[in-house]
Amino acid sequence: MRTTLKKIVKYLVARPSIELARLWPVHVCISMMIRLNEIQLSAEQLKAIVVTVKGKAPCKLLIFGLGNDSVFWLKLNRGGVTIFLEDNNDWFQRVTSRSEDLKAFLVNYNTQRKDWKMLLESLLLLDMTLPSEVAKEEWDVILVDGPEGWGDQTSGRMKSIYLSSRLVRNSGAIFVHDCDREVEDIYCNRFLKHEYLEKEITGPFGLLRHYHITNRYT
Ligand SMILES: C[S@@+](CC[C@H](N)C(=O)[O-])C[C@H]1O[C@@H](n2cnc3c(N)ncnc32)[C@H](O)[C@@H]1O
Repeated sequence: MRTTLKKIVKYLVARPSIELARLWPVHVCISMMIRLNEIQLSAEQLKAIVVTVKGKAPCKLLIFGLGNDSVFWLKLNRGGVTIFLEDNNDWFQRVTSRSEDLKAFLVNYNTQRKDWKMLLESLLLLDMTLPSEVAKEEWDVILVDGPEGWGDQTSGRMKSIYLSSRLVRNSGAIFVHDCDREVEDIYCNRFLKHEYLEKEITGPFGLLRHYHITNRYT
């Protein structure tokens, strides 16, 4: 009975907690939103992204991977352009049903994490056709938290990390989650230069790297 009641209360306050965190993005509100919405980024990680997005807002925000945080990013960047790329159809349907304003594209990376070494040898293999609304823009802030990359049979983040380096605008920011994993670490070191690394923030679900790309073409 108590568990059911807890679930109902959680359901009722989860959505308002997103609005509260958008209006007042301080530690306590962000932490509450994370707990109630089962978001995987930590409060410190989320805050670092919030500060960057707000500093550029309204901005062009591109996110690889839909998540329980998606509605928050959409609300935070009100008046800007926020687009999500997702490769899991079931998850795509579930998250996009939460808000009709969420603009997301279903994509197919056609990769498996186990092929990361072979893909690293040819930039042609890492390229892919993106929706024109994504490809035609230069993005102020890019968050790479997808596709899944926890096992050899998952898509892996080889393409999303490579593409972020091509799509970001000069002086833009790139955040990559799960950089404590081998493939994310290697691809970040190859395509997002170490000199552009601003900060690393640990979290219970993985390490977040923040890059500030001062000159995209060097
Ligand atoms: C790592 S999660 C994003 C997490 C989000 N940024 C957060 O902090 O909660 C993103 C990827 O996980 C995959 N995924 C599949 N099922 C999922 C689920 N039930 N919950 C969360 N992510 C899921 C999606 O394909 C998606 O691209």
